[in-house]
Amino acid sequence: MAELLFVNASQVVTCTGPARARRGPEMRDVAAAAGLAVAVHDDRIAAVGPQSALERAFPDAMPVDCAGALLMPGLVDSHTHAIFGRPRYEEQELRAAGFDYMEIARRGGGIHSSVRDLRRRDERELYELALPRLAALAAHGVTTVEMKSGYGLTVDDELKTLRVVARLAHDLPMRIIPTWLGAHEIPLEYRTTADGRGRYIELLLHDMLPRVAGERLARFADVFCEAGVYTPDEARTILTAARSAGLSLKLHADELTSSGGAELAALLQATSADHLAAVSDAGIAALAASPTIATLLPGTMLFLGKTGHAPARRLIEAGVPVALATDFNPGTSPTVNFPLILTLAVSQLRLSAAEALVAATVNGAAALSLADRVGQLSPGFSADLALFDAEDYRELPYWYGDRRCRASWTCGKPCHVRKLGLNLDADPSRGEEAPSPP
Ligand code: NIG
Ligand code: FE
Repeated sequence: MAELLFVNASQVVTCTGPARARRGPEMRDVAAAAGLAVAVHDDRIAAVGPQSALERAFPDAMPVDCAGALLMPGLVDSHTHAIFGRPRYEEQELRAAGFDYMEIARRGGGIHSSVRDLRRRDERELYELALPRLAALAAHGVTTVEMKSGYGLTVDDELKTLRVVARLAHDLPMRIIPTWLGAHEIPLEYRTTADGRGRYIELLLHDMLPRVAGERLARFADVFCEAGVYTPDEARTILTAARSAGLSLKLHADELTSSGGAELAALLQATSADHLAAVSDAGIAALAASPTIATLLPGTMLFLGKTGHAPARRLIEAGVPVALATDFNPGTSPTVNFPLILTLAVSQLRLSAAEALVAATVNGAAALSLADRVGQLSPGFSADLALFDAEDYRELPYWYGDRRCRASWTCGKPCHVRKLGLNLDADPSRGEEAPSPP
């Protein structure tokens, strides 16, 4: 039985294969084919096969006309900081004038600036601010999104942030995965005395973490492990406690300088080590010998004006599974355009288009411990699909900066509809925007 039958796609990318992170040569296979249809029953993929066979098998299913478009698994954005207040455009100019990202933070800007701002806003306001941002992510083909806290940095403001994430997860069709990032910075009020950072870490461990875990507000814990922020030893203490409290682990590792973050993520068998622009050889070797996924965020390096991208080829050749994400945040990566990240992956990180697509689907799902049900168009997997104006998957990274997503679905429910040959949609020939949910 099927309710929807996706037909007439110019190409279907299924990413069918093992239901786990893909490594090395496995990342090269997106399983692209023409002439396929995809049947959806309830919230799952029911069948993928030749169109004529599926039309016979599911005569009552409503056809979704994908005429001339690329049908693929929805993009999985496994690293965002999407709950924030005002944008921080003034810092972009400061960097252009020669002030470094960490220098701006030392002067009370950067993350501190977003913290001051978020603390002034209530849940309702943060929810309203997040809605159009998530709609914009969905409009670029994202069907699963991870969202971190980390601009509150008090018990109440971190809980407030994570409650907003929970409400969004409840209200929107997209799949939303919450991460607690109480260790995003040492708040300024704890930086004025010698024992301040120790006291903030005590607060994280004994006040904030028990509340976050007790109210089941996060699935992952993350720490910004970076010179001037959290040391590897501090990150280890916080993440070890988080694991004991039932959370899985992520780490902002070796983003700007090499500090042993990748080694720590591997040692802790974290689900992912993220950024890695400055990862050491030892860090690459440690990741290769671990189950940890390397989540690369080339938008951040582009926006900060840095040329030293993560050594993606060396990571892949060492056998590390690589995922890609936007890092959508107001300081270092204010973009919701995931296909643009695919462009950077091919043009700057030197991935093939197929590797980039696997990194953005199957491996993104694995970076959220979802690879057993998300990231593939295979029977039994969640019906998370994205439809792009493209005849070949290699056009996705090629038309850079463009907006080609016609529609996207999570669990068989529309997240975004721009253009569809579907009778429940507006007349597609008018080419007008349908309202994005909700
Ligand atoms: O992933 N590095 C830490 N967190 C973010 C930036 C946050 C900000 O500048 O607001 C990142 O780059
Ligand atoms: Fe980040």
